[in-house]
Amino acid sequence: MRQPLVAGNWKLNGTLASVRELVESLKAGVGAIENVEVAVCPPFVYIPEVSSLLAGSKIVMGSQNMSRHLAGAYTGEVSGPMLNDFGVKYALIGHSERRASYGETDEKAARKFVAVKEHGLVPILCVGETLVEHERGNTFGVVKRQIDAVLDFFGVEAFDGAVIAYEPVWAIGTGKTATPEQAQSVHEYIRGRIARCDEEIASRIQILYGGSVKAANAEALFSQPDIDGGLVGGASLDADEFIAICVAANQ
Ligand code: 13P
Repeated sequence: MRQPLVAGNWKLNGTLASVRELVESLKAGVGAIENVEVAVCPPFVYIPEVSSLLAGSKIVMGSQNMSRHLAGAYTGEVSGPMLNDFGVKYALIGHSERRASYGETDEKAARKFVAVKEHGLVPILCVGETLVEHERGNTFGVVKRQIDAVLDFFGVEAFDGAVIAYEPVWAIGTGKTATPEQAQSVHEYIRGRIARCDEEIASRIQILYGGSVKAANAEALFSQPDIDGGLVGGASLDADEFIAICVAANQ
Protein backbone atom coordinates (compact mmCIF):
# COMPACT_ATOMS: atom_id res chain seq x y z
CA MET A 1 0.00 0.00 0.00
CA ARG A 2 1.31 3.42 -0.92
CA GLN A 3 0.83 6.10 1.69
CA PRO A 4 -0.83 9.21 0.25
CA LEU A 5 1.26 12.38 0.25
CA VAL A 6 -0.13 15.89 0.00
CA ALA A 7 2.47 18.61 -0.53
CA GLY A 8 1.77 22.33 -0.57
CA ASN A 9 3.96 24.32 -2.95
CA TRP A 10 3.78 27.88 -1.68
CA LYS A 11 5.77 29.20 -4.64
CA LEU A 12 6.72 32.89 -4.30
CA ASN A 13 4.12 33.78 -1.69
CA GLY A 14 3.88 34.79 1.94
CA THR A 15 5.28 37.09 4.57
CA LEU A 16 6.79 36.08 7.86
CA ALA A 17 3.47 36.88 9.54
CA SER A 18 1.31 34.99 7.03
CA VAL A 19 3.67 31.99 7.08
CA ARG A 20 3.46 31.80 10.89
CA GLU A 21 -0.32 31.98 10.80
CA LEU A 22 -0.63 29.36 8.06
CA VAL A 23 1.69 26.89 9.79
CA GLU A 24 -0.12 27.25 13.12
CA SER A 25 -3.48 26.60 11.42
CA LEU A 26 -2.11 23.59 9.55
CA LYS A 27 -0.63 22.08 12.71
CA ALA A 28 -4.00 22.35 14.41
CA GLY A 29 -5.92 21.09 11.36
CA VAL A 30 -3.96 18.06 10.16
CA GLY A 31 -2.90 16.64 13.53
CA ALA A 32 -5.67 14.03 13.55
CA ILE A 33 -5.13 12.83 9.97
CA GLU A 34 -3.62 9.39 10.36
CA ASN A 35 -2.75 7.97 6.99
CA VAL A 36 -1.51 10.89 4.94
CA GLU A 37 1.90 12.49 4.94
CA VAL A 38 1.57 16.26 4.75
CA ALA A 39 4.41 18.44 3.45
CA VAL A 40 4.85 22.16 2.89
CA CYS A 41 7.36 23.73 0.52
CA PRO A 42 8.01 27.30 1.68
CA PRO A 43 10.21 29.85 -0.07
CA PHE A 44 13.82 29.19 1.00
CA VAL A 45 14.01 32.24 3.24
CA TYR A 46 11.20 30.94 5.46
CA ILE A 47 12.56 27.40 5.85
CA PRO A 48 14.35 28.07 9.19
CA GLU A 49 11.21 29.62 10.69
CA VAL A 50 8.91 26.88 9.39
CA SER A 51 11.36 24.27 10.61
CA SER A 52 11.15 25.60 14.19
CA LEU A 53 7.39 26.00 14.03
CA LEU A 54 6.96 22.42 12.82
CA ALA A 55 9.18 20.88 15.53
CA GLY A 56 7.24 18.03 17.11
CA SER A 57 4.49 18.07 14.46
CA LYS A 58 3.85 15.44 11.78
CA ILE A 59 4.07 17.94 8.94
CA VAL A 60 7.32 17.73 7.00
CA MET A 61 9.09 20.24 4.80
CA GLY A 62 10.06 20.28 1.16
CA SER A 63 12.09 22.79 -0.84
CA GLN A 64 10.95 24.23 -4.14
CA ASN A 65 14.33 23.67 -5.79
CA MET A 66 17.87 22.57 -4.95
CA SER A 67 21.26 23.13 -6.55
CA ARG A 68 23.07 20.04 -7.74
CA HIS A 69 26.30 21.68 -6.59
CA LEU A 70 27.67 21.29 -3.11
CA ALA A 71 29.30 24.69 -2.71
CA GLY A 72 31.04 27.36 -4.72
CA ALA A 73 30.37 30.24 -7.07
CA TYR A 74 26.66 29.59 -7.70
CA THR A 75 24.96 32.85 -6.78
CA GLY A 76 21.40 32.50 -5.57
CA GLU A 77 21.50 28.73 -5.17
CA VAL A 78 20.81 26.51 -2.14
CA SER A 79 22.56 23.16 -1.61
CA GLY A 80 21.47 19.80 -0.25
CA PRO A 81 23.55 20.12 2.95
CA MET A 82 21.93 23.52 3.62
CA LEU A 83 18.51 21.91 3.35
CA ASN A 84 19.68 19.05 5.58
CA ASP A 85 20.56 21.60 8.26
CA PHE A 86 16.86 22.39 8.60
CA GLY A 87 15.50 18.86 8.29
CA VAL A 88 13.99 19.34 4.83
CA LYS A 89 12.71 15.98 3.57
CA TYR A 90 11.55 16.60 -0.02
CA ALA A 91 12.83 18.70 -2.92
CA LEU A 92 10.74 19.63 -5.96
CA ILE A 93 12.70 19.10 -9.15
CA GLY A 94 11.85 20.21 -12.67
CA HIS A 95 8.72 22.14 -11.78
CA SER A 96 7.22 23.48 -15.02
CA GLU A 97 7.75 27.06 -13.80
CA ARG A 98 11.46 26.35 -13.44
CA ARG A 99 11.55 24.55 -16.79
CA ALA A 100 9.81 27.50 -18.47
CA SER A 101 11.55 30.43 -16.76
CA TYR A 102 14.92 29.19 -15.49
CA GLY A 103 16.20 26.92 -18.24
CA GLU A 104 15.71 23.69 -16.35
CA THR A 105 16.08 21.10 -19.11
CA ASP A 106 15.29 17.39 -18.83
CA GLU A 107 19.00 16.71 -18.39
CA LYS A 108 19.47 19.36 -15.70
CA ALA A 109 16.39 18.09 -13.88
CA ALA A 110 17.74 14.53 -14.05
CA ARG A 111 21.10 15.59 -12.60
CA LYS A 112 19.42 17.53 -9.81
CA PHE A 113 17.13 14.58 -9.13
CA VAL A 114 20.10 12.36 -8.40
CA ALA A 115 21.90 15.06 -6.38
CA VAL A 116 18.80 15.34 -4.19
CA LYS A 117 18.95 11.62 -3.49
CA GLU A 118 22.69 11.76 -2.79
CA HIS A 119 21.99 14.22 0.02
CA GLY A 120 19.38 11.96 1.56
CA LEU A 121 16.39 14.04 0.46
CA VAL A 122 13.47 12.69 -1.52
CA PRO A 123 13.08 14.17 -5.00
CA ILE A 124 9.62 14.99 -6.31
CA LEU A 125 10.14 15.03 -10.08
CA CYS A 126 7.53 17.25 -11.74
CA VAL A 127 6.45 16.29 -15.23
CA GLY A 128 3.63 17.41 -17.49
CA GLU A 129 2.71 18.76 -20.90
CA THR A 130 1.88 22.30 -22.02
CA LEU A 131 -1.48 23.23 -23.53
CA VAL A 132 -0.06 23.08 -27.08
CA GLU A 133 1.44 19.64 -26.43
CA HIS A 134 -1.85 18.55 -24.87
CA GLU A 135 -3.88 19.75 -27.85
CA ARG A 136 -1.50 17.97 -30.23
CA GLY A 137 -2.16 14.73 -28.37
CA ASN A 138 1.44 14.52 -27.23
CA THR A 139 0.89 14.14 -23.47
CA PHE A 140 2.39 10.68 -23.15
CA GLY A 141 5.32 11.59 -25.42
CA VAL A 142 6.28 14.57 -23.26
CA VAL A 143 5.92 12.71 -19.98
CA LYS A 144 7.92 9.80 -21.41
CA ARG A 145 10.75 12.15 -22.44
CA GLN A 146 10.84 13.76 -18.97
CA ILE A 147 10.84 10.41 -17.14
CA ASP A 148 13.28 8.78 -19.56
CA ALA A 149 15.84 11.54 -18.93
CA VAL A 150 16.26 10.13 -15.40
CA LEU A 151 16.02 6.49 -16.56
CA ASP A 152 18.60 6.99 -19.32
CA PHE A 153 21.15 8.81 -17.18
CA PHE A 154 20.78 6.97 -13.90
CA GLY A 155 18.66 3.84 -14.37
CA VAL A 156 15.40 2.82 -12.77
CA GLU A 157 17.01 2.51 -9.30
CA ALA A 158 17.04 6.32 -9.17
CA PHE A 159 13.25 6.17 -8.84
CA ASP A 160 13.39 3.87 -5.83
CA GLY A 161 12.06 5.88 -2.89
CA ALA A 162 11.36 8.91 -5.09
CA VAL A 163 8.12 10.70 -5.93
CA ILE A 164 6.76 11.85 -9.29
CA ALA A 165 4.22 14.65 -9.67
CA TYR A 166 2.16 14.83 -12.86
CA GLU A 167 1.30 18.48 -13.33
CA PRO A 168 -0.25 19.32 -16.69
CA VAL A 169 0.97 22.85 -17.34
CA TRP A 170 -2.43 23.88 -18.73
CA ALA A 171 -4.00 23.04 -15.36
CA ILE A 172 -1.54 24.96 -13.15
CA GLY A 173 -3.03 28.10 -11.68
CA THR A 174 -5.73 28.16 -14.35
CA GLY A 175 -8.63 26.67 -12.41
CA LYS A 176 -8.81 23.99 -15.13
CA THR A 177 -8.21 20.60 -13.56
CA ALA A 178 -7.58 17.42 -15.51
CA THR A 179 -10.57 15.15 -15.02
CA PRO A 180 -9.88 12.26 -12.65
CA GLU A 181 -9.99 9.92 -15.67
CA GLN A 182 -7.53 12.05 -17.69
CA ALA A 183 -5.14 12.27 -14.76
CA GLN A 184 -5.48 8.55 -13.99
CA SER A 185 -4.61 7.61 -17.58
CA VAL A 186 -1.34 9.61 -17.37
CA HIS A 187 -0.50 8.28 -13.90
CA GLU A 188 -1.09 4.74 -15.16
CA TYR A 189 1.18 5.46 -18.11
CA ILE A 190 3.93 6.79 -15.81
CA ARG A 191 3.73 3.78 -13.51
CA GLY A 192 3.78 1.50 -16.55
CA ARG A 193 6.87 3.23 -17.90
CA ILE A 194 8.71 2.56 -14.63
CA ALA A 195 7.27 -0.97 -14.44
CA ARG A 196 8.84 -1.86 -17.81
CA CYS A 197 12.16 -1.51 -15.98
CA ASP A 198 11.23 -2.65 -12.46
CA GLU A 199 7.78 -3.68 -11.31
CA GLU A 200 8.50 -3.39 -7.60
CA ILE A 201 9.84 0.12 -7.82
CA ALA A 202 6.82 1.02 -9.97
CA SER A 203 4.38 -0.41 -7.45
CA ARG A 204 6.03 1.55 -4.60
CA ILE A 205 6.50 4.94 -6.24
CA GLN A 206 4.08 7.66 -5.20
CA ILE A 207 2.66 9.60 -8.13
CA LEU A 208 1.01 12.89 -7.16
CA TYR A 209 -1.36 14.96 -9.26
CA GLY A 210 -0.93 18.74 -9.40
CA GLY A 211 -2.87 21.43 -11.24
CA SER A 212 -5.73 23.36 -9.65
CA VAL A 213 -6.30 20.77 -6.91
CA LYS A 214 -8.83 22.11 -4.42
CA ALA A 215 -11.11 20.79 -1.72
CA ALA A 216 -13.95 20.40 -4.24
CA ASN A 217 -12.08 18.10 -6.64
CA ALA A 218 -9.53 16.38 -4.38
CA GLU A 219 -11.57 13.34 -3.40
CA ALA A 220 -12.49 12.40 -6.98
CA LEU A 221 -8.83 12.71 -8.04
CA PHE A 222 -7.41 10.83 -5.06
CA SER A 223 -9.87 7.95 -5.45
CA GLN A 224 -8.19 6.98 -8.75
CA PRO A 225 -5.99 3.91 -8.33
CA ASP A 226 -2.72 5.47 -9.51
CA ILE A 227 -3.14 8.91 -7.91
CA ASP A 228 -1.31 8.82 -4.59
CA GLY A 229 -1.94 12.36 -3.42
CA GLY A 230 -1.45 15.89 -4.63
CA LEU A 231 1.01 18.70 -5.22
CA VAL A 232 -1.04 21.75 -4.41
CA GLY A 233 -0.22 25.34 -5.35
CA GLY A 234 -2.77 28.11 -4.78
CA ALA A 235 -5.05 26.12 -2.48
CA SER A 236 -2.13 25.32 -0.16
CA LEU A 237 -2.01 28.98 0.90
CA ASP A 238 -5.49 28.72 2.39
CA ALA A 239 -5.38 26.64 5.59
CA ASP A 240 -9.00 25.45 5.41
CA GLU A 241 -8.72 24.42 1.76
CA PHE A 242 -5.42 22.65 2.27
CA ILE A 243 -6.64 20.80 5.37
CA ALA A 244 -9.74 19.67 3.46
CA ILE A 245 -7.50 18.37 0.65
CA CYS A 246 -5.43 16.43 3.21
CA VAL A 247 -8.63 14.98 4.68
CA ALA A 248 -9.74 13.92 1.19
CA ALA A 249 -6.48 11.98 0.79
CA ASN A 250 -7.12 10.10 4.02
CA GLN A 251 -9.29 7.40 2.44
P1 13P B 1 -2.02 25.23 -8.58
O1 13P B 1 -2.54 24.27 -7.55
O2 13P B 1 -2.06 26.67 -8.13
O3 13P B 1 -2.65 25.01 -9.92
O4 13P B 1 -0.45 24.91 -8.76
C1 13P B 1 -0.05 23.61 -8.95
C2 13P B 1 1.43 23.55 -8.85
O5 13P B 1 2.14 24.09 -9.68
C3 13P B 1 2.01 22.87 -7.68
O6 13P B 1 3.38 22.67 -7.84
